[in-house]
Amino acid sequence: MEYQIRPLQKSDNRKAFESGHADLDHFFKRYAGQNQFRHHVGVSYVATDDNTIFGYLTVAMGNIEVGEFQEKKSLPLNYPLPILRLGRLAVDNRYQGQGVGKQLLRYALMLALQQRDTVGCVGIVVDAKPETIKYYTKYGFQLIGEPLEGQIKVNPSPEPMFLSIRNSIMR
Ligand SMILES: CC(C)(COP(=O)(O)OP(=O)(O)OC[C@H]1O[C@@H](n2cnc3c(N)ncnc32)[C@H](O)[C@@H]1OP(=O)(O)O)[C@@H](O)C(=O)NCCC(=O)NCCS
Repeated sequence: MEYQIRPLQKSDNRKAFESGHADLDHFFKRYAGQNQFRHHVGVSYVATDDNTIFGYLTVAMGNIEVGEFQEKKSLPLNYPLPILRLGRLAVDNRYQGQGVGKQLLRYALMLALQQRDTVGCVGIVVDAKPETIKYYTKYGFQLIGEPLEGQIKVNPSPEPMFLSIRNSIMR
């Protein structure tokens, strides 16, 4: 499978994309374009051979309060810390398990490094679905807030996870 990773273009055909997660597919087909081209609140990048879209990720600028962190020691306390927010990541289910997700994550890290060198960035924050916590842990992401002991969650909600640029193992 040969593909490049590049920003979503208006002409890209998103209709056939199916990751198996209705919310991720719906976002991609319905909102990714207008968020990027009209509202400028985030940018999606696609892994594509210009025919088929194998996967996508969506990023936005964000920041995080230092109080939300466990590893506070080396960070300045008086500022919100700039991060790259990885809003969504999905691979078409016909192409999962072939490294596309990994390449998209690597690309997100490259964007975070560019952001670090141009406007400042301490790392990447992703809102991980409970079933993908293991996936992100594999690449060095850490849960930001441990759930309180004994806390019962009726609806599993996304868990924010952080990958420090300094500690990243993906470079
Ligand atoms: C999760 C997802 C993005 C991974 O992309 P992918 O292209 O299938 O993954 P890769 O082929 O790059 O896999 C890289 C490694 O992660 C592992 N992996 C894949 N999905 C995993 C999961 N849910 N949990 C733990 N490990 C996982 C693979 O086994 C592989 O391990 P290896 O390198 O040791 O062989 C993709 O499966 C997907 O889109 N799933 C549905 C949507 C989703 O859950 N998105 C995340 C939103 S937070």
